[in-house]
Amino acid sequence: MGDAPKHISAIFLLVLVSGLVPSSHGHKIRPCKEMVFYFHDILYNGKNFDNATSAIVGAPAWGNRTHMAGFNNFGDMVVFDDPITLDNNLHSPPVGRAQGFYFYDMKNTFSAWLGFSFVFNCTELKGTLNFAGADPILVKTRDVSVIGGTGDFFMARGIATISTDAFEGDVYFRLRVHVKLYECWK
Ligand SMILES: *[C@@H]1O[C@H](CO)[C@@H](O)[C@H](O)[C@H]1NC(C)=O
Ligand SMILES: *[C@@H]1O[C@H](CO)[C@@H](O)[C@H](O)[C@H]1NC(C)=O
Ligand SMILES: *[C@@H]1O[C@H](CO)[C@@H](O)[C@H](O)[C@H]1NC(C)=O
Repeated sequence: MGDAPKHISAIFLLVLVSGLVPSSHGHKIRPCKEMVFYFHDILYNGKNFDNATSAIVGAPAWGNRTHMAGFNNFGDMVVFDDPITLDNNLHSPPVGRAQGFYFYDMKNTFSAWLGFSFVFNCTELKGTLNFAGADPILVKTRDVSVIGGTGDFFMARGIATISTDAFEGDVYFRLRVHVKLYECWK
């Protein structure tokens, strides 16, 4: 008789645990907000100052700051202030700026690390979204973390799936950014 409460609590615990496991692992989590943006990067090459939106700020000993270095750009670091558009047209009205940096971090293939913010300043969107993560450039789609946000994206967190929508040599590329937020406070 004295064992009964223990039994009950053991069963209760089992039900609780087995009930929790499927709900955290078995169900597909859906984003609370999804958006697609494009951003356009025009790299300074010594001749396009008026048009350029990014510049090599650091280069390895075998490179310089007007041309990407050998060995898959390894060691080059670029700072950017790129227009963000809602479609893939560089000349569409921008909804904000993508501001941050990337550096190339593999000698034997194209690979970069990205750290940047989307700074929105238009009538529809105000605030920032902050991104960080590895960018294995040759892979068709790459996921980076959305590590936070402000304003319309207060405390946001999620994943951004990045793909290279276009590139022209070393001077221009356009990234498609599919933002999926799994934490939305607004
Ligand atoms: C600016 O860059 C874009 C994209 O590469 C290019 O189409 C355009 O001709 C450039 N304009 C000038 C003035 O360099
Ligand atoms: C930078 O490196 C490139 C490629 O090696 C070379 O053609 C160019 O002249 C260099 N530019 C400067 C300013 O040193
Ligand atoms: C946002 O846009 C307004 C209107 O164009 C401008 O006055 C303001 O300086 C901008 N703010 C930022 C942070 O760019």
